[in-house]
Amino acid sequence: MLLLKQTPKPDDEYRRLQHFLANLYVSTPRQMVESLRQEGYVGQDNAVKATCLFAFRHISRLKKLYLHRIDPRLLPKKNNILFVGPTGCGKTYLVELLFQKVIKLPHVIVDMTGYSETGYVGQDVNSVLTRLLYAADMDPSLAAIGIVCLDEFDKLASSHNRAVFAGAGTTKDVSGLGVQRELLKLLESSDVPVPVELSHSDYAPRTVISTENISFIACGAFSGLKGHIGRLKGEYIGFGRTPLEKGIDAIAVDYSDEEVEPVRNFQQFGFLPELIGRFDRIIPFHALGENELTQILKEKVSKRWAYEFGLHDIQFEIDEEVVRHIIKKSITRETGARGVEATCIRYIEDAAFEAYSSPGTKKIRLKMKNDEVEYELS
Ligand SMILES: Nc1ncnc2c1ncn2[C@@H]1O[C@H](COP(=O)(O)OP(=O)(O)OP(=O)(O)O)[C@@H](O)[C@H]1O
Ligand SMILES: [Mg+2]
Repeated sequence: MLLLKQTPKPDDEYRRLQHFLANLYVSTPRQMVESLRQEGYVGQDNAVKATCLFAFRHISRLKKLYLHRIDPRLLPKKNNILFVGPTGCGKTYLVELLFQKVIKLPHVIVDMTGYSETGYVGQDVNSVLTRLLYAADMDPSLAAIGIVCLDEFDKLASSHNRAVFAGAGTTKDVSGLGVQRELLKLLESSDVPVPVELSHSDYAPRTVISTENISFIACGAFSGLKGHIGRLKGEYIGFGRTPLEKGIDAIAVDYSDEEVEPVRNFQQFGFLPELIGRFDRIIPFHALGENELTQILKEKVSKRWAYEFGLHDIQFEIDEEVVRHIIKKSITRETGARGVEATCIRYIEDAAFEAYSSPGTKKIRLKMKNDEVEYELS
């Protein structure tokens, strides 16, 4: 194996890092929250605050380390956080917006589903850092201060425990645990041999990257966790339904800080307690409510369609009644903001088809008639 060792840091690398950090504008946590709101992020007040504080502390720690040259032993250690919440409530979107629009740090969002499928005999978990290296324009010292988002983290739950938990009986393998063990090393501060190219070869050249200053954000819906917590407590909690039928759990569930705190809840779900223990903070996300979904529909989904139709000189209008109807439908889908988009497409598709096929159309209006959504072209 070809190992390109990069420590101790050569002077020019150190200077590049200092230059990058000196030019990295860091706003206050509150300003970050405001920027996210301006970008259209709705709700999740506590999660947004906690995440902006996490980002602020990550950057100020780096500045203290590299610009003020404070002894790392005097500084707090890097933080890892875990997002838990129902599908479509804005977990991945928060990471995307924060690190693409608000803070320009090397970052990568890696879908862990692929790693759980291939298990420990397949994809090398360290290649998560290869992706970060790409995001840092192949500069290992920049990659070493970045953010890694382990998306769909819950899919790494060991199938054994999941199956037992879901009441599915026996099971074949425990592949998830291999990946979890590999991740333990990444999440703590260690020197990791990272392949410099994304290939399946063990002989790909490697460079050593320390994860001492890389922060990890894991995201997962952990569907079924809620029912499990309920069962552990000897009670059933659902989205307005009690008890839950045949072990099926509601999708759009809310978690409290107290519910996500105990590591044993995740252990029962199929996670190594020591892996969950590597996360300094577990942040619950809530199912988006009626008001939040309405805001997303009006300020994002509908505006995006209006923009698209506008490019064809067509005006687009949705009656208030239709908005309420769409929100009601979306809530029953229990897929959060994704449900809003999906429901909208269903109603807009026909109108768009007709409008684009009828040159001269100037306006599309969605309205209610006999409890159904209808479109009107003019
Ligand atoms: N809080 C929110 N504010 C504004 N838009 C949102 C919000 N939550 C979700 N959306 C919209 O819904 C889409 C899907 O959300 P996102 O990818 O963040 O879901 P998720 O919580 O990661 O769900 P999953 O667990 O299924 O991955 C986003 O791309 C965004 O357009
Ligand atoms: Mg997601």
